[in-house]
Amino acid sequence: MSSAKALTHWRAPGRVNLIGDHTDYAQGLALPLAIDRDCSITVVPRPAGAKGSIRAVSKEFAGEVTITTSTRATTSGGEGWGRFVIAAAELVQSLNSHPVNEAIDITVSSTVPAGSGLSSSSALSVALVGALAEYSSLPLSKSELAKAAHQVEERATGVPSGLMDQLASVNGEVDHALLIDFAAELVTPVKWPNDLAIIVINSGMLRALKDSEYAQRREEVENAARQLGLDSLRLATKKQVADNPWARHVVSENERVLAFVSALQSGSYDDLGLIMGKSHASLRDDFLVSTPELNELVANLIAVGAIGARLTGAGFGGCVVALAKPDRADEIAQEALARYRQGASPAIGASAHAFRVRAVAGAGPVGERDNSSGLQ
Ligand code: GLA
Repeated sequence: MSSAKALTHWRAPGRVNLIGDHTDYAQGLALPLAIDRDCSITVVPRPAGAKGSIRAVSKEFAGEVTITTSTRATTSGGEGWGRFVIAAAELVQSLNSHPVNEAIDITVSSTVPAGSGLSSSSALSVALVGALAEYSSLPLSKSELAKAAHQVEERATGVPSGLMDQLASVNGEVDHALLIDFAAELVTPVKWPNDLAIIVINSGMLRALKDSEYAQRREEVENAARQLGLDSLRLATKKQVADNPWARHVVSENERVLAFVSALQSGSYDDLGLIMGKSHASLRDDFLVSTPELNELVANLIAVGAIGARLTGAGFGGCVVALAKPDRADEIAQEALARYRQGASPAIGASAHAFRVRAVAGAGPVGERDNSSGLQ
């Protein structure tokens, strides 16, 4: 245990997925990028002699969490996010085979909008595990960190999610998207062109994956693979899945990821738009995870001149992602948002917002080493 450490400070970014949704748990392909919105964690030891408990406070999340080291029981508040702190402390303890048992104060702060499909909970899990592991002198590779954070998230939420969000948060690279092959567990950075801006519009419709049909979708996909006698749908052909809409989405989406990367590399931006349109239609019509709000935002973005647009992440609410020429991106985002607000209830309209994102470096300690994302 490195009790000499005065302060441990970690950051972990959220992610936006450009294409390849509901493919990660089917050993498929996806193309997310780590974004310039992140979760930041500091761990500070309390003065010698202080009681051995972990105390966590957050600027953005309500409540204060106190974890008594011996019982791991929380005493107050932080119902949702407190579970992440407990799970992260337990996991680091189990990997290190001794407890994170010093009296420490954890401060959590996040600029990733919660419940919006930009992986705020993965950013929280990765930053917590990274900070507590470093504080406890437990070395973790990128892959180990992503998998540990995935376990934390699963324990905290009960959602059987795939590994995309944690891998994106950990492996982010400045000005690069990340082609992830989940079967090979391979992350390949793909240069992002500087003449293509990425817009995110939050529909203002919050969703918690645990209350959504996410787990059911995963079950359908796994059933489809079993019925074909396959370990996963990665090995299925289009012909084999022609009559099963869940499986049809997954198999066609994997193809679209590769087509998207080719179009990106050859500068065929019109093709990027077509591929995103097909992806959104497949998520809407075959996979049934879109909503009227997300459909409207996508239609608005295309109508006002975006190159392409689609829902991003799990769906059921949350955000859409769009591409545009940089000199028109702000105008396109604001115009699409204004049209959306006209038809939305005042409450939804007020919480909907648009912003541009760029690809940043993956999770890591702040200060001591290179913080190439420029985030503080
Ligand atoms: C959520 C999950 C990911 C992935 C996406 C859909 O973000 O956490 O694992 O399945 O949905 O692509």
